[in-house]
Amino acid sequence: MTDRRTLRQNQGPSATRIIGVGSFQPERIVTNDDLSKIMETDDQWIRDRVGIVERRFADKDELLVDMAVKAGTAALIDSGVDPSEVDTVIVPNCTMPSGIPNAAAQVADRIGIKAPGAFDLNAACAGFCYGLGVASDLIRAGSAGKVLVIGAEKLTDSVDPTDRANAIIFADGAGAVLVGPSDTPGIGPVTWGSAGDLVDTISMRDHRYIHQEGQAVFRWATTQIAPIALKALELAGLEPSDVDVLIPHQANLRIVESIAKKLRAKGAREDMDVADDIRYSGNTSSASIPLALDHMRKTGRAKTGDVVLAIGFGAGLSYAGQAFICP
Ligand code: UT7
Repeated sequence: MTDRRTLRQNQGPSATRIIGVGSFQPERIVTNDDLSKIMETDDQWIRDRVGIVERRFADKDELLVDMAVKAGTAALIDSGVDPSEVDTVIVPNCTMPSGIPNAAAQVADRIGIKAPGAFDLNAACAGFCYGLGVASDLIRAGSAGKVLVIGAEKLTDSVDPTDRANAIIFADGAGAVLVGPSDTPGIGPVTWGSAGDLVDTISMRDHRYIHQEGQAVFRWATTQIAPIALKALELAGLEPSDVDVLIPHQANLRIVESIAKKLRAKGAREDMDVADDIRYSGNTSSASIPLALDHMRKTGRAKTGDVVLAIGFGAGLSYAGQAFICP
């Protein structure tokens, strides 16, 4: 007779890796000059203060879910894995129009993944790194086989078009990775955390528009995030000099450069390639890291086997990061 006190728990493979990457951006390009026609701003101010040259805005009828489907499909094609082999779909995002339904179940269905575990994950701009950490650990625990993680945002629905501090930075898009088991370690432990005492610095007012105290967030990001990135490396058993590609959340190019400078002061190499995808993609919150990864792979800046360090940060305030091997 079975001992009722004996309960079985799962145990999965000891290692995981990213096996495919994909992304999608809407077709409509919006330049700084386009914005200066509808608000008091100018191209030089935006380039100097934020680093953005242009960004992509989705059309009215192009939804977060539509973009997620395209990015997720692209990641599956890149991996060569059939949708039937995927059993879990996570969609990090913070801009689904309502709490229910979530994005993940419908995105999975449209991609052709049948009856997967499917959930959204909201850690705002840190969402992708949270999602990647959860995906890797679900597999290692034996709870999932292959997990599709799709960071997707339609931020233009949540930005007051007359709020010139926010309307110039936020944009739309989606980026995805497929995570699966591996013979060798390919995804380092996630380091994550939050600073809930600073919750009011980025919030959605009246469930409508994002409000942020830009300078307070800027100060926090430029002082608190580099140490978290260093901790992620330490947890993975790596040195700063091991990093080939650094992909911080694309919030503001000056924040990205500040994080890179701090890592170089701790031994990261001068030739470490630092993502600057914000120049042509804007700030796409939980989509920004996988978008940058996909673009850097496609242009040869991130190569198979490279050590990539990703670090996300944003509303919550929340942060998360990990090192991984570029597929
Ligand atoms: O992704 C989630 C996490 N978010 C972040 O990490 C964002 C962090 N914060 C930032 O990136 C920056 O704070 C912003 C890009 C949001 C804003 O830049 P800032 O340099 O902090 O500008 P500010 O809001 O402090 O404004 C400085 C000046 C003001 O003029 P005065 O009062 O000094 O005369 C603003 O009115 O710049 C003015 N300004 C603008 N001027 C031209 C603000 N926005 C604009 C604009 N064009 N779009």
